[in-house]
Amino acid sequence: MIEQTWWWPVAAVDEWPQQDAQPHAVHLLGQRLVLWRSESGQPSLFTDRCPHRGARLSLGRVRGETLQCPYHGWRFGTQGQCVSIPAQPGFSPPASSAACRHGLRAAHGLWWAGMGDPQHDLPVLDHLPSRRLIYGPFDVATSAPRAVENFLDTAHFAYVHEGWLGDEAHPEVPPNEVQHTADGRPLIERYRAWQPRASAAAQGGAWVEYRYEVLTPFSALLTKQDQGGGPQDSYVIWACPQTEGSCRLWFAQYTTDETTPAHELRDFQLAIFAQDQPILESQEPKALPISGGEAMSAADRLSAAYRRYLKACGIQFGVC
Ligand code: FES
Ligand SMILES: [Fe+2]
Repeated sequence: MIEQTWWWPVAAVDEWPQQDAQPHAVHLLGQRLVLWRSESGQPSLFTDRCPHRGARLSLGRVRGETLQCPYHGWRFGTQGQCVSIPAQPGFSPPASSAACRHGLRAAHGLWWAGMGDPQHDLPVLDHLPSRRLIYGPFDVATSAPRAVENFLDTAHFAYVHEGWLGDEAHPEVPPNEVQHTADGRPLIERYRAWQPRASAAAQGGAWVEYRYEVLTPFSALLTKQDQGGGPQDSYVIWACPQTEGSCRLWFAQYTTDETTPAHELRDFQLAIFAQDQPILESQEPKALPISGGEAMSAADRLSAAYRRYLKACGIQFGVC
């Protein structure tokens, strides 16, 4: 499965803080996983299924440096090895009794899972403003690629975000050129839009210059600069494909706005996404058609490039 060559976001670091001793269940690529932290603080990621009778390990509890299954009390060490079968004292469990362990790392304020053998390193985010806010998780009943494509789509601003990011009197998408990075990721260097209310700090309408870049099959970066001297904001969508038709999203904002309180920045993003979500969940099919089947116009160049990129990557989960 080509998806196993990528790292995937599964939780924001704040959703599973250092002091949280409870196992934390997550869902990725149709599989249930469990994050757990040993008493000494070592974080691990296992398949959330006991190798004995398939019970959910996330219902168990941490005991010392082991995770204990809630059903018959088998205990697993941080590498997944089974170290104790209480019903059979003195027995050394064989390697075949191990829990399935996955790669785990923390970066960009999120926990990342490596399900197989990740070949692609995480995206590098440099030259971004240092103030970072992470919004989410948002659980959305559509595929992750539908959500990422929506993030790249500007033609919906005038309708879905009327009075905020768009103006129904100006629905046109100005000419723009899709380029590609050396490794084939689509980007638009410059896209100009009139926005009635571009950010939480906006005092009125402004011309805003956008830059879009697809980072990985299921993440993208946009940077918007208010031409009236307002803040520069960069947003990343991090999408976790939970099932073929559902995803968990986080949005990271990197902003030069040092003064607007975090709750106001958050409220603005929540209001924007609340406008997107019902539309996203209404789209049929939930999987993103990357082999034709949906009508395209010239205003959809970036969407088309994103679909071609997914196809070139060999992505199969959440697409059709
Ligand atoms: S199912 Fe986990 S110990 Fe039996
Ligand atoms: Fe939107």
